[in-house]
Amino acid sequence: MKDASPQPIHLTDYTPPEYLVDDVHLTFRLDPTATRVLSRIALRPNPDAVSKRFFLHGEGVKAISTKIDGKDVTPRSVEHGIEVDAPDAPFVWEAEVEIDPQGNTALEGLYMSNGMYCTQCEAEGFRKITYYPDRPDVMAPFTVRIEGDAPVLLSNGNPTASGDGWAEWTDPWPKPSYLFALVAGDLIAREDSFTTMSGKEVDLKLWVRPGDEGKTAFGMEALKKSMTWDEEKYGREYDLDIFQIVAVSDFNMGAMENKGLNIFNTSAVLCSPETSTDANFERIEAIIAHEYFHNWTGNRITCRDWFQLSLKEGLTVFRDQSFTADERSASVARISDVIALRGRQFREDNGPLAHQVQPDSFVEINNFYTATIYEKGAEIIRMLHTLVGPEAYRKALDLYFERHDGQACTIDDWLTVFEDSTGRDLSQFKRWYKQAGTPRLRVSENWEDGTYQLTFTQNTPPTPGQDGKDPFLIPIAVGLLGPNGDEVRPTEVLEMTEGSQTFTFDGLPAKPTPSILRGFSAPVILERDTSPEERAFLLAHDTDQFNKWEAGRSLAKEVLTGLVTGDAAPQAAYLDALATMLRDDHLDPAFRALALQMPGEDDMAQTLADAGVTPDPDRIHEAAETLRQSRAEYLQDSLPRLMAEMTVDAPFEPSAEQSGKRALGLQLLKLLTRLDGGKAAQSQWEKADNMTLSLGALACLLDAGKADGPIADFREHWKDDALVMDKWFMLQVGHADPANAVATVERLTRDPAFTMKNPNRFRSVFGAFAGHPAGFHQKDGSGYRLLADWLIKLDPVNPQITARLSGAFETWKRYDADRQDLIKAELNRILATDGLSRDTTEMISRIRGA
Ligand code: BES
Ligand code: ZN
Repeated sequence: MKDASPQPIHLTDYTPPEYLVDDVHLTFRLDPTATRVLSRIALRPNPDAVSKRFFLHGEGVKAISTKIDGKDVTPRSVEHGIEVDAPDAPFVWEAEVEIDPQGNTALEGLYMSNGMYCTQCEAEGFRKITYYPDRPDVMAPFTVRIEGDAPVLLSNGNPTASGDGWAEWTDPWPKPSYLFALVAGDLIAREDSFTTMSGKEVDLKLWVRPGDEGKTAFGMEALKKSMTWDEEKYGREYDLDIFQIVAVSDFNMGAMENKGLNIFNTSAVLCSPETSTDANFERIEAIIAHEYFHNWTGNRITCRDWFQLSLKEGLTVFRDQSFTADERSASVARISDVIALRGRQFREDNGPLAHQVQPDSFVEINNFYTATIYEKGAEIIRMLHTLVGPEAYRKALDLYFERHDGQACTIDDWLTVFEDSTGRDLSQFKRWYKQAGTPRLRVSENWEDGTYQLTFTQNTPPTPGQDGKDPFLIPIAVGLLGPNGDEVRPTEVLEMTEGSQTFTFDGLPAKPTPSILRGFSAPVILERDTSPEERAFLLAHDTDQFNKWEAGRSLAKEVLTGLVTGDAAPQAAYLDALATMLRDDHLDPAFRALALQMPGEDDMAQTLADAGVTPDPDRIHEAAETLRQSRAEYLQDSLPRLMAEMTVDAPFEPSAEQSGKRALGLQLLKLLTRLDGGKAAQSQWEKADNMTLSLGALACLLDAGKADGPIADFREHWKDDALVMDKWFMLQVGHADPANAVATVERLTRDPAFTMKNPNRFRSVFGAFAGHPAGFHQKDGSGYRLLADWLIKLDPVNPQITARLSGAFETWKRYDADRQDLIKAELNRILATDGLSRDTTEMISRIRGA
């Protein structure tokens, strides 16, 4: 029998905790299958509580003993935990419980990875370790004693005592249980130190498995840069004697900001030139920054409840994006962030999983760590920053830290800080948190007697559970260009508040060309009918790098649309503008690489669907191939010179400068491969001394059908390096010919190195498969069946990863009736599986709809 469908939790049902925690003492007696956890927790009734029920969360923990003030008590088991009769006065709760880390394949709570013990508690994993009020608004100082054979025993805070087979850690800063962490194992540290702005010395340790020491240098540098940046840009100093990072191989997410003891997926911290690509280095730097920045935005000030998740995640993503923009090229960073936003968040917002940045209800919180909470959440902070300006933003942040340090807060608290410090009324702005969906912004222009007008109309389509939407406050950054390409009006931020609104520009000598939504100043879809010539003009002249790129992108999309629908494809203007842009050596190679990058096939499918055309993944793929071929032929003569210019002679550095050159070099190599059948790629493959160049060459050889030897050699060479092997799996799926994609995935799942237990490995095959639309959307449904089979197999092992990957189906309503029927059948088959997890049940039901 299946459980009754899981009940959602509502934001409006929030009540303050009945009891507060003053102090926590934990003792861990580590054992792979029978770890004992002893807890001694000082509690007191909360004067603000509305009831006196004493409830503790607890899931899958075996109680050995439970006491209140030293006397045995018998708890009643209730949903998600236990209830006990407790005094209406301060008391001490003690429990001894037993848990099984080895049997924990869900990787939440205390589990084992590669022989080491580690924890993941956000969002609700602490309740799998011991009984506790496992909610973020209960904050307490923790003292942790760890007993075990492992040479290294770590927890949050500062080390306070240790001896043979034990260690004790004390974290003086009150924290919610989701920030608890413990690690034990055979580990080696890269050590360093950092002097904070007030002169305090902080020990830095980056712990890895023996053998991985050579991959820690870059992570340590990234950490120190992050610490400096947060001091300089936000005035935030680190607050413990030690900051530690541990790399673990089995981890559901990228990384976790546990107080003083961040735990990272190996893929999100370990890197070296031989084993990692430029993209890996860049992502690692951003994730280290992100988790470090949480120390203030998340840990010192945390969330009152999980409906406020974007309070910490949206803000911290905005902070890590700003860090990357400062460390590397700001415009390149912005373009990459917008590509990711459109690919993930717009996609989510447009389908059955669309939800508010502050939801009203949820079933499984793990399913709400979404692109909307994170990336749209970051866009909202960015808009606030744009609207109030950098100085007012910094003043508001100072007030936020001053007013709320040590508290568990709400998104309303955050907005109130901005209202109080700037005097602005943000009630309309708040709609960005409460209304789901991506606004469509239509623009029309009017030119008369030297007066230029732009009229904007906004409209947000309905999303599940939300039909009519009120107008958003949209900051629209606009600049105007004159006929010769000069900027006649610098960027100005228009504040649109109405459903439809006109802005007037006077005193212009000639009709200007507008550059609208500069820097992507709001997360909206801009709809504007313009000629290819006007876009080519913007691609050539816009001083705003984002809009320059955007002009090229929209030209490319238009050409692709023409190829798919069979309309005459006006390629000449596009190819000519592209060639001019490419040869312009005043432009950063990284920018040119982005301008040359093709729009993704999933992005094209959405664009066509928006235009009322049912997307056919095969035709989109063919159109992309056709356009690639015409680009290669058109650019043929420029390729050798450009490629020579992109050669890096200096020793490898993961710098923005070198990586930009390599990125453009690889784009050019892809084009050349279409003309030389893989000759240049083969030679690059043979000479390459870093992973960026090897993997790029290997991708080209796969495309050219000349990779059999190299794929086998690569496997042999890297078989003992899990992170490199992930690339080996991913690349073959991503570059499979659509007709062979299903067979490729099946073959790879039979490879001895494939395993369902490691999230990175599973994702490297099935994440790549879902990201290859023409391979996944087979007309006969074999792609859907294959993914569904594996989701059903994975669910009992790791529900979080299963639920996440089921997002592959979220776009199903855009496709033709036959494909929809095939997908629906698979969704129903998954839902009918006995014992399907809450995580996957919620995701698949929401995707399927009523
Ligand atoms: N707090 C999250 C990690 C997390 C997410 C824990 C979901 C439990 C459930 C962490 O700060 C985070 O956001 N990590 C991101 C990377 C970041 C750069 C956006 C991740 O893990 O992908
Ligand atoms: Zn985060």
